[in-house]
Amino acid sequence: MPSGPRRRPTAVLISGRGSNLQALIDAAAAPDYPAEIVLVLSNRPEAKGLERAAAAGLPTRIVPHGDYPTRAAFEAALSEALSEAGAELVCLAGFMRVLTEAFVGRWQGRLVNIHPSLLPAFPGLDTHARALAAGVKLHGCSVHLVSAEVDQGPIIGQAAVPVLPEDDEAALAARVLEAEHRLFPLCLGLLAEGRVSVEGGRAVIRGAPDAGGLIMNPDQRRPG
Ligand code: GAR
Repeated sequence: MPSGPRRRPTAVLISGRGSNLQALIDAAAAPDYPAEIVLVLSNRPEAKGLERAAAAGLPTRIVPHGDYPTRAAFEAALSEALSEAGAELVCLAGFMRVLTEAFVGRWQGRLVNIHPSLLPAFPGLDTHARALAAGVKLHGCSVHLVSAEVDQGPIIGQAAVPVLPEDDEAALAARVLEAEHRLFPLCLGLLAEGRVSVEGGRAVIRGAPDAGGLIMNPDQRRPG
């Protein structure tokens, strides 16, 4: 049987629920998806995402950050697990540890994070509550290459959702999460296909289709 194009070995790092991990698992189930998940690693033993990984038959590792005296020692253990798994790309999918410049530098251009806001708006935590408090009318999520400054690396892709008048934090978070589940597999696919390059600190996507149209909220088509 002829073999298809090589799928890039990819590790997914999680700390919790793992719904983005699940989206990546589902995408990678397609034989023509350009990335293959070779490791799911959690810094928390109780992370629900580990069960998702096991259910999909994927290798898992637990590297509890509390077991290491320093950040550098923790990251050395991460690096060892990643190289043992043969990972070439690394996805941070709700991985709630800040990584040092040394670690990020080693993985430059191959380490991606999903963040629940339209960066550079709302870096850090509590993004949905802050978006509601600011009264923005569009919110969303970003997938970006990781750089040493938290939530500031070159943006590969973003998805926007409306903020509706009746939204509370949970409703807005759920709408953004759905968008995350579409955006992350798309962006990992682009990276795995080698279509992402960084020019002047910005990510440039080769052959990205024109999304077309205008995203507006309130929607101008809504009857007055
Ligand atoms: C996601 O919303 C992700 O964007 C966010 O954590 C959640 C993880 O959910 N990440 C960050 O806030 C990173 N700073 P999941 O475990 O169900 O994928």
